[in-house]
Amino acid sequence: MVEIEAVRGKGAREDNNRRIPENGSPVKIHAHNFSFFYGDHLALRNVSLEIRHNQLFTIMGPSGSGKTTFLRALNRLGDLIPNTRHEGSLKIDGTDVYDSRTDIAELRRNVGMVFALPVALPMSIFSNVAHGPRMQGVRHQKELEEIVEKALRDAILWDEVKDRLSDNASRLSGGQLQRLSIARVLALEPEIILLDEPTSGLDPISTLRIEELLWELVERYTIVLVTHNPLQAARIDSRTAFFLMGELIETGSAYDIFTRPKDKRTEDYVSGKFG
Ligand SMILES: Nc1ncnc2c1ncn2[C@@H]1O[C@H](COP(=O)(O)OP(=O)(O)O)[C@@H](O)[C@H]1O
Ligand SMILES: [Mg+2]
Repeated sequence: MVEIEAVRGKGAREDNNRRIPENGSPVKIHAHNFSFFYGDHLALRNVSLEIRHNQLFTIMGPSGSGKTTFLRALNRLGDLIPNTRHEGSLKIDGTDVYDSRTDIAELRRNVGMVFALPVALPMSIFSNVAHGPRMQGVRHQKELEEIVEKALRDAILWDEVKDRLSDNASRLSGGQLQRLSIARVLALEPEIILLDEPTSGLDPISTLRIEELLWELVERYTIVLVTHNPLQAARIDSRTAFFLMGELIETGSAYDIFTRPKDKRTEDYVSGKFG
């Protein structure tokens, strides 16, 4: 059994999962018997879960368990892959994301996605963050400057880059680049932020900074973090779901999942028997 006390960060955030009762805040994301197919391949099977407003929700599981598929469904990036289909429902604020009336561009602005490998656009730090708002029609330089500064402050990157906003973004370190990716998402003022293994390419210090940042951001956003690393799930110590081969095996506080898993498969995973 993983010694959760040893890996929990300073001041474990009990408020986000254990102390607040499950009905503490309204449901933001609701999957009900949600299944997803690539051709004949069933990648998610009857997943039902609820993620609440301003909740940091961690999805952990080994490679191939359907974590990315679930995130991609939430902003319909899966639509870009031919021959895919879904069953069941997947709602945000009570509306099915697959409803024919869904405005997909608006959905993708509202549900921002941060990927494993941070990719800087080949332009300045400033323009990387301003790019999204510009595409959305923000033209005034002053307004763009305000948006960029706020996004960079919120991503805890501002102090490191404020004197070199016109430098090419490719000169940033890996950890800085990943915070820049987060700033780019924040500049679009989303309500939900999805992060797909955002620290997999980062060193331990940069990883901790991102994990701390998530706990700041969750004051204002609903965050879904995907990790294939159970130690990260334990450190983050948020509400956690365990996915395995397309199924949701169990959901609970990280504390419960790591100290008293209900399912033998969860126990085997968190104790490192497979991964
Ligand atoms: N674009 C795709 N085309 C076909 N199958 C896919 C595609 N993406 C993922 N899959 C399959 O769906 C399953 C779940 O994959 P994925 O959601 O990427 O898992 P995870 O993110 O947990 O590693 C795997 O069996 C994978 O091979
Ligand atoms: Mg994945």
